[in-house]
This record gives sequence, C-alpha cells and structure tokens, in this order.
Amino acid sequence: MQPAILFVCLGNICRSPLAEAAFRRAAQDAGLDVAVDSAGTGDWHVGHPPDRRAQAVALRYGIDISGLRARQVEAADFTRFSHIFALDHDNLLAIEARAPALCKAEIGLLLDVVPGRMGQAVADPYYGADSGFETTWAEVSEAAAALVARFSR
Ligand code: 4NP
Repeated sequence: MQPAILFVCLGNICRSPLAEAAFRRAAQDAGLDVAVDSAGTGDWHVGHPPDRRAQAVALRYGIDISGLRARQVEAADFTRFSHIFALDHDNLLAIEARAPALCKAEIGLLLDVVPGRMGQAVADPYYGADSGFETTWAEVSEAAAALVARFSR
C-alpha cells in the first residue's frame, strides 16, 4: 500500500506546511510514491495561505508553498493516512485525543524519526524572529530525509 503521510501542527500555517513541502521534495527526489498533506489541530487559520515567513523560507530553498491553504484535522484523516506526525508534544496529545479507538494510522512525534532528536519538538517559530523559520526548515528537512530513508527500505 502506498504510504500516506500527514504532518500536523497547531495553525497549519508555519511548521506543518514546511514539513509537507520538505518531505514532498525529498520524496520526489528519491522517486518515492507517497501521498503527503498537512493540517492543524486549531481552526483559527483555516483557509489561510502559509505565514509569509514560512513562504519566504520555502522559496529560499526553491519551493513555492503559496498555494497551500490551512485546514483542520478531521475524522477522515485517521483512515486516509497511514502515518500522522505531530510537530510537537501538545499537538501529539491533541491528535491522540481525537483518534478513534480502532485507529490504524501510526501516530507519532516527527523528530522521533531523526537519530539523536527522539522526544524533541520542532520549535514553534510563530511568535519569534524570522530566523526561527530557518531553524524550522532545517529541522523538517532532517526529518524529511529520515522519513524518505525509512519508506525507501
Ligand atoms: P504553526 O504556527 O502551528 O506552526 O502553524 C502557529 C500558527 C498560529 C498560531 C500559533 C502557532 N497562533 O497562535 O495563531
């Protein structure tokens, strides 16, 4: 079965769209056939494009994410996706709380896939300086590479 990966943060305008973009690129480069999407646990930004700082960092690495639109996690996600990765602990708890009892999707913390980063969160750059988005990009790119390695086996 084709893996289907969902990345989840709070607003779906900063971290998870960047994780989606980095992983989509890495999977394409590796010739991996995989479905990719992102969503937020909150609904404040539903329908909005990614934060302009997230758009800017993605563009610096050659990826246009301006066409993405934020959406909230929904019940169907737990059957549509084989893997759901939370960007931090709060969102992991929120997803686990919403998961149906017989959930087949594997739910986990994104950085758990990166050697040496187990149990760590991708820091929320929303209220910080623009440079925080470079850190986010570096972290989600590391995770994207680790995921591609995992799904290529
Ligand atoms: P994200 O960042 O969860 O990475 O998309 C945030 C976006 C919005 C808010 C917080 C974090 N907010 O408080 O509206």
